[in-house]
Amino acid sequence: MKVMAVIVAAGSGLRAGGEKPKQYQMLGDKPVLRHTLEAFITHPLIAKVITVIGEGHDALFHEASMGLELSAPVTGGASRQESCRLGIEACVNDSPDAVLIHDAARPFISHNVITAVIEKLRDAAAVIPALAVADTIKQARDGIIGKTLDRSALFYVQTPQGFHFDKIRAAYRNAVEKKLSALTDDASVAEASGIAVHIVPGDEKNHKLTTMEDIRKANRDLGEKTQLTDIRVGSGMDFHVFEKGKSLWLCGVEIPHTHKLKGHSDADVALHALTDAILGTIGEGDIGTHFPPSDPHWKNARSKIFVTKARELLEAKGGVIANVDITILAEAPKVSPHLVAMKAALSEMLGITLDRIAIKATTTEKMGAIGRKEGMAAMATVTVRLP
Ligand code: CTP
Ligand code: MG
Repeated sequence: MKVMAVIVAAGSGLRAGGEKPKQYQMLGDKPVLRHTLEAFITHPLIAKVITVIGEGHDALFHEASMGLELSAPVTGGASRQESCRLGIEACVNDSPDAVLIHDAARPFISHNVITAVIEKLRDAAAVIPALAVADTIKQARDGIIGKTLDRSALFYVQTPQGFHFDKIRAAYRNAVEKKLSALTDDASVAEASGIAVHIVPGDEKNHKLTTMEDIRKANRDLGEKTQLTDIRVGSGMDFHVFEKGKSLWLCGVEIPHTHKLKGHSDADVALHALTDAILGTIGEGDIGTHFPPSDPHWKNARSKIFVTKARELLEAKGGVIANVDITILAEAPKVSPHLVAMKAALSEMLGITLDRIAIKATTTEKMGAIGRKEGMAAMATVTVRLP
């Protein structure tokens, strides 16, 4: 069975908006359309790929498809239906047995779904991937429910939709003759010609990018999954002695106490350990390298600026903080009443959510210098992800 693919990419992406049509916007390191084309070009059962592009999009297409083994694109029409019809007509010279029609705006199409559609075409003339509806769906008019539909009979429809070539070509011609327009998928065109359309399981990931938020979310997901795979761990430790005072700084929060911590800066022992841990993930020395105590500039400085600087160095390398785990060792003051405020301060300082931050405290059971309340210590562990 000779199978061709028609990728419809002639829309203007009005709902998504942006500088260029959505199929040419970047998804990870390449345009949306390139992801889609690569999925079909590399599929072993697809003989040839025809791309249908919008009028005036030649330069965009050229840039997006550079280096791919593709035939010249075909110009589409004013509606998806018309673009599909033109794509199908462009296949005629290659006389395929079957054709798969796919939205350029579904870049997450998997080889498995393509294969499932093709396999089913061996004994069916029309095949579409679809997903069962999980929500209850109701019919309403003027804000009043008319009836509740039988969910088990409803499906979300995806592409690629596969057809025996001669049948779908005839069905599209029939639609022109009968002036059937505004058909939003190819199965509707087949149905209008009385062709039985079969279902194979679709894929949640094969969703269509429709809005700008869809594209943003897809980029976030992709970034999380495929780009930041260099995972590193850093650790930091710090000690400060007590001296007479009224309050001390811990995790960026001022805590009333009978003593303060002695130091050049505000002596926030936890933030110093945290700064070293972040610097440790990128091999950038320690807090003393960047903020020498000999420099009067850092006298009484808020330690938040040390953490911010370390975060900036990490982010300059494209890194993000995955989680932070801090342990404070002190006989006094009691840390627990301040945990909520401390976590909130770290969340703001690091730009990460509260569930990625842990602060724990322990005494040393009166053992050693910390047990004698001569000072306190903090340890920090940080995990980061880099490209
Ligand atoms: N499409 C097409 N020709 C058209 C309209 C749409 O080839 N005249 C393609 C789109 O490029 C897309 C797919 O059909 O890959 C699905 O259409 P849709 O998501 O509606 O894309 P757009 O029409 O581009 O977006 P919008 O409706 O928001 O303008
Ligand atoms: Mg559209």
